[in-house]
Amino acid sequence: MSSIIEDLIARKVFNNRGEETIEVDIITAQGFGRASAPAGKSRGKTEVTYYPQGGVDQALKKIEELIAPELAGLNADFQEEIDSTLHEVDGTSNLKNIGGNAAFVISLANAEAAANSHGLLLFQFLGGSNANTLPCPLGNTISGGQHARGKAPDIQEYLALPHGAETFLEAATANAQIHKKIGDALKKKSTVFNGGKSDEGAWISNIGNIDAFEVIAKACEEVGNEMDFECGFGIDVAASSLWKAKEEKYAYESEGKKRDTAEQLEYLLDLIEKYHLAYVEDPFHEEDFESFAELTKKAKNCLVCGDDLFTTNNERLNQGVKLKAANAIIIKVNQIGTLTDAAETIETAQKHGYTTVMSHRSGDTCDWHIAHLAVAFKCPIIKTGIVEGARIAKINELVRIEHFLGNRAKMADLKIL
Ligand code: PGA
Ligand code: ZN
Repeated sequence: MSSIIEDLIARKVFNNRGEETIEVDIITAQGFGRASAPAGKSRGKTEVTYYPQGGVDQALKKIEELIAPELAGLNADFQEEIDSTLHEVDGTSNLKNIGGNAAFVISLANAEAAANSHGLLLFQFLGGSNANTLPCPLGNTISGGQHARGKAPDIQEYLALPHGAETFLEAATANAQIHKKIGDALKKKSTVFNGGKSDEGAWISNIGNIDAFEVIAKACEEVGNEMDFECGFGIDVAASSLWKAKEEKYAYESEGKKRDTAEQLEYLLDLIEKYHLAYVEDPFHEEDFESFAELTKKAKNCLVCGDDLFTTNNERLNQGVKLKAANAIIIKVNQIGTLTDAAETIETAQKHGYTTVMSHRSGDTCDWHIAHLAVAFKCPIIKTGIVEGARIAKINELVRIEHFLGNRAKMADLKIL
């Protein structure tokens, strides 16, 4: 059979921060798949453990000694069997024995190897013949919080979201222009701005939270007018990193201000109204499902998205669904480990009308698989930055998918907006 796994080779490589990570090759009788693992900086507390004790070296040893012999001879077409074998070998609930990133790379490389064994692209293999919808690109333009060093906005990400384009290529073009305009505006605004960028390729500038809103609002409006379609924008507050548990307040250092939960809610509702925000991610810390629900109820025409809140975890999402905590969810496969786990979470989300946002991590490689996963799993948004090599790898892969699909390709419709 063509998809039988013959070999699994793992090696140490680097992500865009220069941190060590894992890459895996899976070789089947007639195919080949390769994947490498990303890493988060502002991680959710309930993510799986990335590496066993001993880090990448130990993970490589475990892949070679424990996992590769178990997978040899299995059929890569049966993803669930591969993924459950990974869980069995690990034997813990959070993958701390083999490491979530070991599970992630093997799971992804396996899917790629299966697709390749059948002469299909990954999105076709996983999504079937009706996977023809391209996601809207949600792109980081200004970085703050834990993604910046020195003085910067407290809000972690200011994100452009063109959602009226007819093609992915046009939407990606809009994002590139918005990013450039913002760079020009920041240069005019601050004499000390020197063009510095974060790991995700977003600008880092010594400006306040509100100044950043003004800059992105203007850039999105101008580009929207020039290109003649809607360019919305939003934020990732990454509020867990602002939350001071002892004081029960969110600390906005750049403003010299602390906000309790009620004030945070009011602040965000004002911002959503004033700037017509299309998207707000992690507005409250990761255990505050109730405040998420409050915001979701009150915010008009806005995606309220859980990242650290859900960590791509089906159980946490089910809790969120019960409480009506959000209307969108970030999908980061390496938060939960395997493709099967992530697919289960996506299914729950879509069943309950949540907008699924396939996402990169701040530390990432040129691995482009999430481009295929977004199309295969019908995620209407992909969050993957605008410039910087690891981001462009994914954007360009989506351009290729669109090109490949020809006139069967269409853009996702963000109904809530
Ligand atoms: P990360 O965060 O640094 O954990 O990848 C990105 C995000 O919060 O969306
Ligand atoms: Zn986030």
